[in-house]
Amino acid sequence: MSNADRNTPGVNRNPSEEELASMSQEQLAELGAKLDDVDIIFRRNRWPEKGTKAEKRAARQISFWFALSGVSGLAFLGVFLFWPWEYRMPGEEGYNLYNWATPLYGLTFGLAILSIGIGAVLIAKKMIPEEIAVQQRHDGPSDAVDQKTTVALLRDAYDTSTIGRRSMIKWSAAFGVGTFAIASPIALAGGMVKNPWAEGDNSPLWTSLWTPSYEGETIYLRRDTGRIDDIALVRPEDIDAGGMETVFPFKESWRNDSYKLLKSFRHEYSPVMLIHLRSSDAARVTKRQGQEDFNYGNFFAFSKICTHLACPTSLYEQQTQRLLCPCHQSQFDVLQYARPVFGPATRALPQLPLAVNEEGYLVARGDFIEPLGPAFWERPNYRERQS
Ligand code: FES
Repeated sequence: MSNADRNTPGVNRNPSEEELASMSQEQLAELGAKLDDVDIIFRRNRWPEKGTKAEKRAARQISFWFALSGVSGLAFLGVFLFWPWEYRMPGEEGYNLYNWATPLYGLTFGLAILSIGIGAVLIAKKMIPEEIAVQQRHDGPSDAVDQKTTVALLRDAYDTSTIGRRSMIKWSAAFGVGTFAIASPIALAGGMVKNPWAEGDNSPLWTSLWTPSYEGETIYLRRDTGRIDDIALVRPEDIDAGGMETVFPFKESWRNDSYKLLKSFRHEYSPVMLIHLRSSDAARVTKRQGQEDFNYGNFFAFSKICTHLACPTSLYEQQTQRLLCPCHQSQFDVLQYARPVFGPATRALPQLPLAVNEEGYLVARGDFIEPLGPAFWERPNYRERQS
């Protein structure tokens, strides 16, 4: 039934301007309900008697939650701006503080939202009049009378909730919602404020543990045997044709430094997939321009960190020569310099240039020539090779 078709008995659907202007807010609200075919079956003010102890207690409860939201919002801002967030290894000084950073973000931000929600629910339960109403559904847009009476209904709800005269609730709500409104955009945009290239060539997004500390430093490929003091370096004969192994960087200067040895396994950009192609597959390889000599014979090494959102691209499918990322199903073609052929990733997995040194070990012949991991804002293209 459209608005025009409605004909509620005893209700004038087309009051004149003068009639509307002469009606009180209460009358307009009542008219609005009737025009909307709303039958109010039961209605009772929560606090017919003003200033009772129970009423004050209810107001204090609501204010408490809004105030808690404000305090949580401020705490979130404090944690976000000042808490130490940079990665620390287990056992390293500051590890416990770093470890608490993410839980504290969630705790303070979550508490701010939760408290606003609880405050709003309490207002509905303790301040807005109790009411049971039944409304028929209608199609079509609202006419001018409906709009005017709807505004009156909303104002009536505000007035009868008695919020207007409760400054403690108003101020605490403004504190809670205001702080939350400030904290939200900071949480969203805060991470983008820092310039990722502030350190030039040594910027964290440019470098990894595969980056030589000095020119000519040898960086070995090392397998993880489960013990950080077991230095198992990789030779070409260690991997059968058709095989793949995840390897990590090793520098001689780390040999007796358990912290650096552990870090080389744990650093997010360390894992590299070393793939030994069968000759028949290697004959079909298309090399990337500028990276024609990055392989060593039939050995190819690609960063394991997905260029979509940094999951480990761990699944090597020998039959199709594809690397699969389990997170969002990106697939990379090993025979085409690990370029993405399916899924959301848009960038090939960076390739590590390989060589074999005079001792017969596989080594990195230089650093990666492009940033590892997901694409990011202002990611530069290649840089000059260091080999
Ligand atoms: S992180 Fe690999 S596909 Fe999304």
